[in-house]
Order: sequence, then C-alpha cells, then structure tokens
Amino acid sequence: MAEAPLLDTFGRLHDNLRISVTDRCNIRCFYCMPEDGVKFMPRQEILSFEEIARVARVAVSMGVRKLRLTGGEPLLRKDLPVLIEKLTAIPGVEDIALTTNAVLLSDQAADLYKAGLRRLNVHLDTLDRDRFFQITRRDDFNKVMAGIDTALSLGFGPIKINAVAVKNLVEPDIVPLARFGRERGIEIRYIEFMPLDAQGIWDKAKVLLQDDMIRLLSTAIGPLEEIPDRDPRAPASEYRFADGVGRVGFISSVSHPFCLNCNRIRLTSDGKLRYCLFAIEETDVKGLLRGNASDDEIRATIRETVTRKWIGHEINSQKFVAPPRPMYSIGG
Ligand code: 5AD
Ligand code: SF4
Repeated sequence: MAEAPLLDTFGRLHDNLRISVTDRCNIRCFYCMPEDGVKFMPRQEILSFEEIARVARVAVSMGVRKLRLTGGEPLLRKDLPVLIEKLTAIPGVEDIALTTNAVLLSDQAADLYKAGLRRLNVHLDTLDRDRFFQITRRDDFNKVMAGIDTALSLGFGPIKINAVAVKNLVEPDIVPLARFGRERGIEIRYIEFMPLDAQGIWDKAKVLLQDDMIRLLSTAIGPLEEIPDRDPRAPASEYRFADGVGRVGFISSVSHPFCLNCNRIRLTSDGKLRYCLFAIEETDVKGLLRGNASDDEIRATIRETVTRKWIGHEINSQKFVAPPRPMYSIGG
C-alpha cells in the first residue's frame, strides 16, 4: 500500500530532507561557532552512512524527493562520495544537493561529481580576504575561490553562494558578490543572520535586512525584478537584474518568514529528527536504527515528527527562545 504523503497539521507537504553528516567544521564563522573550545560529538554518536541511507530510504518511501547534505562541513566526512552514491541509488530521489564552505572542494570536487552530485551551495560571505579571516577566523579564502573554480570547470550546476547578512559588517560585500555571481552564472543567496549562533550574540539590530540589500544592489548595479515563484515552497525570494544578467535570492527568516511554505525536515548527524531549524524538541531515530527497529517503526517516528511540527518560529516575538543547539550541530 502506498504511504500517505507527509502532511503536517497545517497542511504543509514535506518532501525535503536535510541531512547533517557531521557537526565538525574546519573554519569558525562567528555567527555559528565559538572561536575555540568547540565540543564536537564523539564519533560513535554520529550516524554511519548505512544508517543515514536507511533513514533516507524510509523517508523517500513516504514522499521525500529532495535531499541535501549539510554539516558542520560535510567534506570533513571521510568518503562522502560513497554516501552520495548510496543516496542517488535510492529510487524516488529526484534531487540531491550539498552545502559546503568549499575549503576542501578543489580536492574533492571530481570524486563528488563522479558520485552523481551536481548541485552545490557554497557558503561564502565576502570576496575580501581580510574580512573572510575576520568572519571565519581562518585564512582559507584562496582555497574557497579555488574550490569554486574547480566546481565550475567540472560542470557542477546550479552552483549557488550562501552569504550570511550581518549588519555593520558585510555591507561592502553585497554588491561585489552579486557582480561575481553575474560574471560566473552563480546565484548569490543572502541569508539574514539568524539567532543560531553558539555564543548568543544575535540581536535583531545585527541583521542586515532584505530590503536594505535590495536597495544597495539596485543602486549600484541596476533594478531588480522579482521572479514569480516557480516553486512556492522554496525559502528564497528570487530576483533577477532587469538587464537579464544574473539573479540573487534572499532567505529572510527575520523580515519575511517563510514558515507557511516550509517543506523540510532535518536529520542531525547524531540521529535526531527535527521539524524546524529553530525547534526546541527533537525525536530520536538513532536508538531505533541501533535497536533493531523495523522500517515501519522508523516511518512512524518520521510521521510523528512531522505531525508535531509547529506553525513556525517566532523570531520576531518576545516569546522566541533560541534552540539549544547552534547551527553547526543542527545542520543548516
Ligand atoms: N544565520 C544565518 N545563516 C547561518 N548560517 C550559519 N549560521 C548562520 C546564522 N547564524 C548559514 C551558512 C551556511 C548555512 C548552512 O547556514 O551560510 O551556508
Ligand atoms: Fe562551519 Fe558553516 Fe558554521 Fe561556518 S557556518 S563555522 S562553515 S558550519
């Protein structure tokens, strides 16, 4: 019997699973990680590729069609192409993508491509080497640029760049990034700074807002036209430059929350299911995987997680409570 689709109590259909493969990272973006003394999960707590593929297969049997690998930094996970092969082999998977900081990309891009990966989101906030160091506390800017070049030359696509928008910091980067994207056919996605940092420094006054970025871009480059939603459930609102060259997107959790269209569930690297980036509660699947549970039991747990999903985060309300885990440990 075909499984009923994964609908939550608000009628949202869930067909998108984001899988974090590690909580480790090789850089230390201040809006995500503390500078030092990060406590990573012990190796035995992290799901194996077999365990991840099993959860994915069960989720796909319930209508999930899109998978994204995240971290931490997924390229730190040894033999990641092996996981990609396992996931692309699941019948019903229509789309698989990877979010990476690209520090290790030039070394690994060819193997990832061979394993079937095509879609990449590269996390990069600035084209200025000094500011890159200031943000990430690592001097890896040149490696990231080499990674992007390698991916472009191998034929990856679409490649998008995720840039976190922090006020009084990255204003000088907004326009150069868009120009870079226009030259190379890369969509830049500006992500409003969200309250997910490890050190609790987030404050609404530190968010560079979508409207301010649109103003900067249209003044310097030219008018932007909103692209009518091709996929109304995509989180980014997308714009193209009126001259026809290039597009930019905004993931504006603070100024334009998109919870009502959310189609995502998340699997953390230590085997917890989350119905929201900002969720306080999570459901354990690792115990099921390691306790001889049947696929039906895993299915029931996935369905229960979706059923418990709330209407949305309340970043803009007094009631907002930041989740107990920072971004690197949830998976972006
Ligand atoms: N706010 C917004 N985006 C963030 N990211 C990491 N931390 C934050 C934050 N506090 C982004 C990174 C990464 C993606 C997974 O999440 O750009 O690409
Ligand atoms: Fe690493 Fe991504 Fe967090 Fe930056 S945002 S420290 S690249 S996990």
